[in-house]
Amino acid sequence: MNLILFGAPGAGKGTQRGSLIDTYQIPAIATGDMLRAQRRAGTALGDQVTSYMDRGELVPDALMIDMIKERLQEPDARTGFILDGFPRTVAQAEALDATLDQLRRRVDAVIYLRVSRQVLIDRLSHRYSCRSCDAVYNFTPKQALEVPRCTVDGGELYQRPDDKPEIVAHRIDVFLKHTAPLIDYYTTQHKLENIDGQMSVEDVRADITRRLSALKKGAGSR
Ligand code: AP5
Repeated sequence: MNLILFGAPGAGKGTQRGSLIDTYQIPAIATGDMLRAQRRAGTALGDQVTSYMDRGELVPDALMIDMIKERLQEPDARTGFILDGFPRTVAQAEALDATLDQLRRRVDAVIYLRVSRQVLIDRLSHRYSCRSCDAVYNFTPKQALEVPRCTVDGGELYQRPDDKPEIVAHRIDVFLKHTAPLIDYYTTQHKLENIDGQMSVEDVRADITRRLSALKKGAGSR
């Protein structure tokens, strides 16, 4: 399966990808996590992308496209992948299609998690992330007074600089302007699975599983 997890900031892409990795035994390629790893490692790319990320702007297409082209050719991605956070512009989607064409592959489905602006803002204001592994948590204001350590690797939990309310508002505007046109792009290709991302985490997961099983069955009977 070659999948794209698609949705606005805070739609639940990172939350849902773990169960997809387990179900399909394919790697997740999460561009936000890849960029934050570059920043932690203090690489030239990490330095280059810092100001874009902290302002809630998109990193230039050329940098992102090069990074994804290289990653898709690594051995673990040969049997499938879950893209999270890419593509984010029509230029990125076209470059992805061209790269996959060369590899004689294609995107099988785009899972669009649809969530309202107010819910996105509420979720991101309560999100804490692990500084070392990017695992995410959601705390009530009371729980946030005593933020524990990450349950995955014991790392420090923090609020991402781009989760400040004014940056979140800007990231949602950037999504609507530059990324939302991909809804039409993938609808035209008959690949969009439009899912209510405001259900519980478990119900969203069940809906994704149901849709992907139906797709697999359909592909098998053709
Ligand atoms: P990135 O890290 O990709 O951020 P994002 O797409 O804005 O997505 P988020 O990580 O904020 O949200 P999510 O959908 O994963 O939600 P989550 O599951 O955590 O990108 C960061 C930056 O990198 C970009 O702004 C840009 O600068 C740059 N960048 C990355 N890729 C790029 C590209 N291709 N081109 C250019 N620039 C790029 O959930 C959020 C919260 O909600 C959590 O607390 C979670 O517990 C909670 N939650 C999740 N689901 C539910 C549910 N169903 N019910 C209740 N709570 C829920």
